[in-house]
Parts: sequence; structure tokens; C-alpha cells
Amino acid sequence: MNSSAPASNFTQDDLKARVGLAALDYVGEGQIIGVGTGSTVNKFIDALGTVKDRIRGAVSSSVASTERLLALGIPVFDCNEVDELFVYVDGADEIDCRGCMIKGGGAALTREKIVAAQSRQFVCIVDATKQVRTLGAFPLPVEVIPMAVGRVVRQFARLGGTARVRQANGTPLITDNGQFIVDVTGLKITDPFDFETEVNQWPGVITVGVFARQRANVCLMGTPAGVETLRYD
Ligand code: 5RP
Repeated sequence: MNSSAPASNFTQDDLKARVGLAALDYVGEGQIIGVGTGSTVNKFIDALGTVKDRIRGAVSSSVASTERLLALGIPVFDCNEVDELFVYVDGADEIDCRGCMIKGGGAALTREKIVAAQSRQFVCIVDATKQVRTLGAFPLPVEVIPMAVGRVVRQFARLGGTARVRQANGTPLITDNGQFIVDVTGLKITDPFDFETEVNQWPGVITVGVFARQRANVCLMGTPAGVETLRYD
């Protein structure tokens, strides 16, 4: 498929498939690839399956992505078995004009930030609905140690936000790391760098879903006109 061909009348799912395929351009021969989590990344994993004999394998950011990679016969390495990765490919819930993102809609934000930090280049794959002027309309995911949830909720209230523990089947969702997620609405994150630094040092916060220090270097954005490449550095 030619990822630069016009794509009007394409569904959101088609756009995700197109950016997933376009991300193969950043995959080098013999490399271990950092792989994110989510429905867009699933398209990338499917595309990666078609070149699996040309890569060494992947480092994965979630149990779900690991299972999908293994099902396609792609070897999965532990973070600690490898040094720096050339590239990390992941989706986002929001991305601004500097490549700063909100992530964690799939509850995998902590492992995503770890693999992103280990990678030279972050290639973000999204459809155009994820592009925003200011981060914060999407409920901000924060992974929190359960005993700290009450205080973290009160701290967000002081910033004007409303934080709620994410539920799954009527009980708190438990992350791959055995922790809770709070989703925070009502925030306008005008300085993602300061915000990330501030919230990350609240006791009990494991990771805030603002990715400013681990922002994207490149974004492959699926638009009705085709895949647009945005570079931020
Ligand atoms: C998971 C994430 C995802 O990248 C983000 O939620 C986007 O997912 P999707 O591609 O399904 O829209 O951060 O924790």
C-alpha cells in the first residue's frame, strides 16, 4: 500500500493501518524495535509481522503487545537485556505542536515511558483526531500506588482537576505493574514540561501520562489526504 496516496473516505481504522504501515520506514535491518501499546500500535505490530525475518525482535511496553508480538513469531526481549534502541513506535491520546503527548489510555504509560526513554527516536503514530493545541481535553492518565490515591485526587483538585480511579468490570483496573490508574479531567496543560516534573514527584505517583521529556521526535499522522510526517527536532 502506498502510504502517501489520498485517503479520503477512509475510516479511522484505515488511517491507523496506514500510519502503522508507514512506521515500517523507521525499522532498520537487524534491529530490536521498541513497541508501544494500543489499537494503532496493533496495526504497526501486524505490519512488523510482515518483516519479522529482517529484525531481531522487539521490546514491548505491555503484556497485550507482548502477546500480539509473540503470536506473530516476533521475539520479545526484556528491557534489561538490551541497551539503547534505535526507535520506539507508539500511539498517543493527544499530541501538541511540539510533540508533547498525553498517553496512557491503554493503562500502559509507565512501561511506555521506560521504553521511550531507552530509545533514540520516538515515532508517534496517530490519526489526525489526536492533534491538539493544548493538552488536557483527554482525561489525563496517572499510574498511582493504591494507598496514595486519596491524596493524589485531592492534589489534582487543588489544580482544578477532577480525578477518578479507572474501573474495569466494577472494580479498580489493575495495571501490568499491579497499580491503579486515575484519570484526571478539567486540566489545561499549558506547560507540559513543568507539569510532568511537578506531578511526577508527588509521593505515590508512579508515572504521569504527560510525555514532554519523552516527547515524540516524529509523528506520522493519518489525515484524509494521506500520511503526514511531522518532525519536532
Ligand atoms: C496506551 C497508550 C496508547 O498509545 C494511546 O492510548 C492511544 O491508543 P490508540 O492507538 O488505541 O488510540 O498510551 O497506554
